[in-house]
Amino acid sequence: MSYKLITKDGSAKRGEFTTPHGVIQTPVFMNVGTAAAIKGAVSTEDLQTIGTQVELSNTYHLHVRPGDEVVKKLGGLHKFMVWDKPILTDSGGFQVFSLAGLRKIKEEGVTFHSHVDGRLIFMGPEESMQIQSNLASTIAMAFDECAPAKADRSYIQPSVDRTTRWLERCKREMHRLNSLEDTINKQQMLFGINQGGVIDDIRIEHAKRIADMDLDGYAIGGLAVGETHAEMYRIIESVIPYLPENKPTYLMGVGTPANILEAVERGVDFFDCVYPSRNGRHGHVYTNHGKLNLFNAKYELDERPIEESCGCPACRKYSRAYIRHLLKAKEMLGMRFCVLHNLYFYNNMMSEIREAIEEHRYSEYKRQKLEGFQNQE
Ligand code: GUN
Ligand code: ZN
Repeated sequence: MSYKLITKDGSAKRGEFTTPHGVIQTPVFMNVGTAAAIKGAVSTEDLQTIGTQVELSNTYHLHVRPGDEVVKKLGGLHKFMVWDKPILTDSGGFQVFSLAGLRKIKEEGVTFHSHVDGRLIFMGPEESMQIQSNLASTIAMAFDECAPAKADRSYIQPSVDRTTRWLERCKREMHRLNSLEDTINKQQMLFGINQGGVIDDIRIEHAKRIADMDLDGYAIGGLAVGETHAEMYRIIESVIPYLPENKPTYLMGVGTPANILEAVERGVDFFDCVYPSRNGRHGHVYTNHGKLNLFNAKYELDERPIEESCGCPACRKYSRAYIRHLLKAKEMLGMRFCVLHNLYFYNNMMSEIREAIEEHRYSEYKRQKLEGFQNQE
């Protein structure tokens, strides 16, 4: 199990991450299936068709429903979803803070209300690791606190210190779980998460501390939560030099195609974001000439596919006019086509990115790609 740096182009990394569920070529976009389902009626069979390398699910959602014990009894997430490639599970930290009702943060962990039935749930680092071990994902994320974007130093410093102590507990618990007889994936990997808001020195100190912990990978969390793009890029640039180059880096919850192009240039390997599936469900589709809103009247008689050059299941056969009709008639198939197209678009862009880095023409590729997005049809 290891990360191999194949080549670099400037700071952009082209890597290969070997896991118990196969090799991940980076940079990679992970397709989000929060509750073990890609929203928009997309099956794991579809994921194969659209070139998905990694599926991402959430500890919090699966703990609440159907319950991680249920998933364990059914043989773990891979068997449950019928997906044999890598799965990354987010720790629940972020979802608890962004979704769950009334919460209390203590040293031991967090108390919150389930968004499904309101029942009170406690989750700390040990609980999060136990749930992720039951789910048997390939990569587990550390249990962290994602501080609000506007939080100041007096809030952030103690929060980050606690997140560091939580990470130590996560590592210890993961080690214990991986050695238990009835653990499904005894080679589960753990990624730590860098926090610190938009305060550079706190971010850097934290990055140094977690870099010493010899984890399987390192995420940058707490971004895309309301700060500006300039701040986000600045923090990535500040932190990356302090994270091990021979380990994968993961920018959590980011972002638009342009955000990804910028972050890759600064050395990020892994990404995930709900934009392609969420936008697809609303009829917003990505193209190399910007985003289209298929509800727009100008597509009523448009017989072209969403994008001529696209190899996705929607573009290979169906017209903008037909998909627009499906969306307007609230037929599920309309959403499904748009989500498939958008995920294909992201996965395909990542494949182009990998090729451009290998051929040491990344900055030129990025420039052309960004220019294309400006020429909206
Ligand atoms: N997803 C997006 N941002 C974050 C974060 O800061 N922490 C976790 N655990 N997940 C995230
Ligand atoms: Zn397409």
